[in-house]
Amino acid sequence: MERTLVLLKPDALQRAIAMQILERFERRGLRFIGLKLVAASREQASQHYAEHEGKFFFDGLVAHLQSGPVVAVVLEGPEAISVVRAMVGATRPHEAAAGTIRGDLALAGLRNLVHASDSPETAAREIAHWFDADEVLDYDRQLDRWVYESD
Ligand code: CMP
Repeated sequence: MERTLVLLKPDALQRAIAMQILERFERRGLRFIGLKLVAASREQASQHYAEHEGKFFFDGLVAHLQSGPVVAVVLEGPEAISVVRAMVGATRPHEAAAGTIRGDLALAGLRNLVHASDSPETAAREIAHWFDADEVLDYDRQLDRWVYESD
């Protein structure tokens, strides 16, 4: 089992497609274990993108994350990190394959709707950055034996 952090960026909410995106993750079989609406502070947005500090696009990236509410999500499932990255698609929407979230719902530039953790280390850091421990819930679903278990 893995956990991963997903952010639906302000463009997803402003375009009123946040629920469509969440539904894709749920339909795939992933479990929501953390979910909330956040107005990111400059500090919270900058720390989230700390690895990009100093790059020419850093200020724009931080400003975009702060430009409206964000939906912060923790998803859990087998191989959740790579599964979610594959569902999200390439960083640049015009390069994202059809069938991915960006390939189906985004078009150009870097209005790419979604952020998703890229490794177990990043996921642990990003989950702790956006969620308090008691905001991430542990629970079982009856349907998981139909989704996860092999014969
Ligand atoms: P995200 O998946 O949120 O993680 C890092 C973000 O940096 C990425 O989405 C893009 O929005 C952004 N990014 C990556 N490369 C560039 C670039 N060359 N110019 C502007 N933004 C970029």
